[in-house]
Amino acid sequence: MKKVVLAYSGGLDTSCIIPWLKERGFETIAFVADVGQGDDFSAVKKKALKSGAEKVYCLNLQEEFIKEYVFPALKAGALYQGKYVLACALSRPLIAKHQVLIAKKEKAQGLVHGCTGKGNDQVRFETTFRLMAPEMEIIAPVRIWEFKTREEEIEYAKAKNIPVKVTKKSPYSIDTNVYGKAIECGILEDPWAEPPEEVFTLSKNPLTAPNKPEYVEIEFAKGIPTKINGISYKPVTLITKLNEIGGKHGVGRVDMIENRLVGIKSREVYENPAGTILHAALSELEALVLDRETMQYKARASHKYAELTYNGLWETPLKKQLDAQFDQIHLRTSGTVRVKLFKGNCLVVGRKSKLSRYKKAMATYSAGDKFDQSKAEGFNALWAMPFKE
Ligand code: ARG
Repeated sequence: MKKVVLAYSGGLDTSCIIPWLKERGFETIAFVADVGQGDDFSAVKKKALKSGAEKVYCLNLQEEFIKEYVFPALKAGALYQGKYVLACALSRPLIAKHQVLIAKKEKAQGLVHGCTGKGNDQVRFETTFRLMAPEMEIIAPVRIWEFKTREEEIEYAKAKNIPVKVTKKSPYSIDTNVYGKAIECGILEDPWAEPPEEVFTLSKNPLTAPNKPEYVEIEFAKGIPTKINGISYKPVTLITKLNEIGGKHGVGRVDMIENRLVGIKSREVYENPAGTILHAALSELEALVLDRETMQYKARASHKYAELTYNGLWETPLKKQLDAQFDQIHLRTSGTVRVKLFKGNCLVVGRKSKLSRYKKAMATYSAGDKFDQSKAEGFNALWAMPFKE
């Protein structure tokens, strides 16, 4: 029998994949990645074995996820279509990387994922597979198997002694990790329908959020958030804390039509309290400390970085070169930003840094003005000159 490693979630699809592969001559090692989805991992492991896996790996990847994926994307200012913090997209190359490492250690011949043929995730997994382990076979059962409906899959699962939850299935397809949550399908497939309140679990409805604003101070060191209200936190705890604080005020809800890599448009709803706060705060700090040309250049690079991440091109030369640029740019972005959270809004109301480029003497309209207005006439004349004739 050939050995393969499967990215296993404990859901119906990836559970059915295990006996399905066995029928085709593959023994499966299940790999469960803990990226903060909050599942009961000992139950997930048991289910993998019950479904027929030879062995199960479960790795806590949360810290690596925040430090090596979420923070670089934050430093890059990467927001797909200007809105999506890429929480799901960032987790895929990480999961795929560890899957390949396990496959190599286990001398497996193949890599298996449970993605459909319509989504972005298949591309993110497979690009990492193909770059890190070009010799390995890739199998995507959900794209090719015989089951047409969920009911058929459940029948198959029962026949194979896979425990099937009798609870009514949620109409939504949900992906959660420690950074944020993505929700699609069900009524959300109607772009005109407002997302029902039930899809939101990380953020309160702004209507019932506190009637008093909350001020939060976030300290950054070279573009990395390190403290909340003066207290240092480790990366995962910092994100979890900001998700709680922001969520309490209904911050971080996103509703958008998204251009998928495979060419279709889809309606996506996200909850990202921490990501929303951090992107808003860091970009304001940048405005304080970066020169104008760097800021303008960075905005273009951010756009590209978001596309590369969304499109599964994380492990590529350009993305790595951009990381090096952002590291350089962020040598200056140390300082503190004060945000005000209120009824779904996150407003930056204060920023300070030892490396601030803001010079009060140049900006002021009051006493102490050092700006030499006599130079302005010549400046104005030359500025318009090329267009005048
Ligand atoms: N559209 C988002 C993305 O491509 C979220 C995908 C969520 N995946 C899921 N299985 N619900 O990153």
